Amino acid sequence: MNRFEYVKSILADRPSTPGETGQAYAPANIALVKYWGKRQRELNLPATDSFSISLGDFGATTTLTPASQDHFILHETEIAPDTPEFQKVFGFLDLLRPEACPLAVESRSTIPIAAGLASSASGFAALTLAANDLFGFNLSHDDASRIARLGSGSACRSIRPGFSLWHAGTREDGMDSFADFLPDEWPDLRIGFLVLSGGKKEISSRDAMNQTTETSILYQAWPQQIEQDLPRMKEAVANQDFEQLGKTAENNAMAMHATMMASVPSVLYWQTQTLETIRKIRQLREDGLPVYLTMDAGPNVKLLFKKETEETLKKTFPELQTAMPFGHLKP
Ligand code: PMV
Repeated sequence: MNRFEYVKSILADRPSTPGETGQAYAPANIALVKYWGKRQRELNLPATDSFSISLGDFGATTTLTPASQDHFILHETEIAPDTPEFQKVFGFLDLLRPEACPLAVESRSTIPIAAGLASSASGFAALTLAANDLFGFNLSHDDASRIARLGSGSACRSIRPGFSLWHAGTREDGMDSFADFLPDEWPDLRIGFLVLSGGKKEISSRDAMNQTTETSILYQAWPQQIEQDLPRMKEAVANQDFEQLGKTAENNAMAMHATMMASVPSVLYWQTQTLETIRKIRQLREDGLPVYLTMDAGPNVKLLFKKETEETLKKTFPELQTAMPFGHLKP
């Protein structure tokens, strides 16, 4: 089954007459138990389950409006049609829109620039939800998650706020691969960002993932790592056990980077500053501060901590920017 047939089977007999405009916000998310490696590429089906937390106000707002020709405006700047960004966005919209339905896409992100945080997850989730609004598809969260997954795997975990569990599924048609959103709330949980390195990535997460699954001998152990970490993470969230959450997430991120480093050629996202930051975090922990870290496909280090730790952390990391995953909850 290709992407078009897949989306068609989800949309089935739903209406596709555009309204005047469609708009949506979707938060970014960060995996606490990572997605690394696909079982099938066409439909972006992951090899294993993964678990994430959304990032409150850090996310994307997208507006879709029928127009005379396709336009993509990102942060008030027109993106040219021959760029990969433009082609990815409209390649995705082609799955959802009827033929001959040019659209103006206007998108803005509140993710701190160069925070090393993928904007694709919130971007494709917001695009899916804005299309749902424009065309009146009336998608369930599960179906929106199934569709957003095609834009970027991790986008399927950004359809709703909070903790989410993305099921790898086993079906060839991909219908059992979507994210479930947990009812658990953890208001004093914080995710911190340090801008370590701007610059372009040496290798995209998509290519690094494929290189790892094809060549890394350590990748064989990755499903076992997930089998160990997922129940620990679920338990940590259920009991609001911060130490267990932090330890599990940090070990999971390190193990993911180990699988990449063992690929041929080796994928090494770390920079000198990455290691310096890891050392500082370990030192803070040895000094008694409950802070843990996670990393994705890049050199940046993300911090996991609780509200009461923020002040102290800022003494070591004055440039720390903080996301409040449950910031939408009024005290
Ligand atoms: O969704 P993608 O293709 O951008 O891949 C995300 C990969 C990681 O960020 C490294 C892990 C994850 O689960 O988000």
